[in-house]
Amino acid sequence: MINLKELIAQTIYDEALGLEIADIEAMIEIPGDEKMGDYAFPCFRLAKVMRKAPQMIAADIAERIGSAEIFEKVEQVNAYVNMFINKSVFETEVIREVIAQGAEYGRTDVGNGKTVIVEYSSPNIAKPFHIGHIRSTVIGNAIYKLYDATGYNVVRINHLGDYGTQFGKMIVAYRKWGNEADLVKEPIKTLLSYYTKFHEEAEKDPSLDDEARETFARLEAGEPEEMQLWEKFREYSLAEFNRVYDMLDISFDSYAGESFFSDKMPAIVQEMRDKELLVESQGAHIVDLEPYGMTPAVILKSDGSSLYATRDIAAAIYRKNTYDFEKCIYVVASQQNLHFKQWKKVLDLMGYKWEEDCIHVPFGLVSLEEGTMSTRKGRVVFLEDVLNNAVAKTKEIMLEKNADTPELDEIAKEVGIGAVIFQELSNNRIKDYVFSWDKVLNFDGETGPYVQYTHARASSVLRNATPEELARINEGDFDASYITGDSAYSLAKLIYRIPEVIQDAAEKYEPSILTRHLVDIAQSFNKFYHDEHILVDNEDEKVAKLALVVAAKTAISNCLAILGVKSPERM
Ligand code: ARG
Repeated sequence: MINLKELIAQTIYDEALGLEIADIEAMIEIPGDEKMGDYAFPCFRLAKVMRKAPQMIAADIAERIGSAEIFEKVEQVNAYVNMFINKSVFETEVIREVIAQGAEYGRTDVGNGKTVIVEYSSPNIAKPFHIGHIRSTVIGNAIYKLYDATGYNVVRINHLGDYGTQFGKMIVAYRKWGNEADLVKEPIKTLLSYYTKFHEEAEKDPSLDDEARETFARLEAGEPEEMQLWEKFREYSLAEFNRVYDMLDISFDSYAGESFFSDKMPAIVQEMRDKELLVESQGAHIVDLEPYGMTPAVILKSDGSSLYATRDIAAAIYRKNTYDFEKCIYVVASQQNLHFKQWKKVLDLMGYKWEEDCIHVPFGLVSLEEGTMSTRKGRVVFLEDVLNNAVAKTKEIMLEKNADTPELDEIAKEVGIGAVIFQELSNNRIKDYVFSWDKVLNFDGETGPYVQYTHARASSVLRNATPEELARINEGDFDASYITGDSAYSLAKLIYRIPEVIQDAAEKYEPSILTRHLVDIAQSFNKFYHDEHILVDNEDEKVAKLALVVAAKTAISNCLAILGVKSPERM
């Protein structure tokens, strides 16, 4: 692809300016008002060196570069050189490049193969995979794909919550009130009912809590009976999580969760002791973080069992040693901000300066219109039900719209699930939001179905192209000067920016930057579609317009893929 800024900088370059091409490139601005041109070059800085008024310098430059092919018009306004890009040269270039790169368009290699870990989803075993988990799962998957698209080697980790005192409770409840048949039939719902029952009963009989603690201690000591039950819970839970991951088309390279670190903790606790970081407090072992304005990090409980934070410290050290990551990205709710600050501080105090490369990427809460959720009370909305519901509702809407396709079920699945994913990635991740069916499934709003529908519309236009026309498009044999409307130019400009937008979204861990850009592209395409008659008689004009449709379709489907959303050909 032509790098416009670089090309402009090369054109402006002149020894007399006393600037390198790279300096010029860095000085080029994009005017806020399109009427002032696509690019502007300010000349204030040159006045001193050239001993001339900046207006004069701008006028000279404008005069000198005005006839370059890439410009339609160059004007001097005060101290600025305002440049208007030659629309059809630009459009032709963009369209050819997108078509040549196809599914690769948007990808760059800025990451240079360096390793980045993205940790996401990380649900707790034996607890429901509820709507609250969708955020980490979907945002994490998009961040993985953004880093993959910018040339990093990405390791995807699911840090399963498969360890901790709650397993003591679960085992006690299972032994008292449980049976295997229920567990086989509906693992998590059954396990959840045990968990709820345990809390109800423990309110009446606090000795149950002691029993649970002892049971967990036996589990930690590797007692076979407790281990066996724990493995059963883990296995059944994972099978259920995997059903949801399959629906979302999400996978992981590692499921090394909390339990994986149980045998790695003693050495790390010893290291903290050797580094004189541990102090005793009411029988527990803690790292004092008061000097840093935080409550202490509890490393070992008074009964010697480890904590969530201890396991995170062990996991970070293990990952650094195993993967030598450039960055380790944790996609975890903002409620855990303090937890992350604490254990990262402990790593810092241990002398591991790379803790700075452990990046907590927080996100806000999702609530339901009906009210909030609580695992303890058993009031919970399962993610799987939400996804199934989205698919069923989409099918209804499509039938209402008289969708006539043999692949209705398949498409309803892609659209329904895509809608839920897209909604997740639409808002700034840090914002809390309320899940609303009306908003998710709206085909006209700034939604997944709207963007997918735009893609299907482009596909449908292209079904009118003849093989000869498609061949010309693929060979780059077309000339965009046949497309005169402004809407084509706006669309081409948005498509041109995709690689840059992807990099920006990756750097900021903010998939919504790409989601918003994608909505802009869809809106811009629809404007083009309404403004222009595409299937005209003039063959050269028709091929040029169809080529832009191919580029738009490719752009939309590549961006959707990065967000983890499918691009149906028909809707
Ligand atoms: N299992 C935890 C939860 O559901 C999330 C784990 C986050 N990751 C971490 N490394 N602490 O709340």
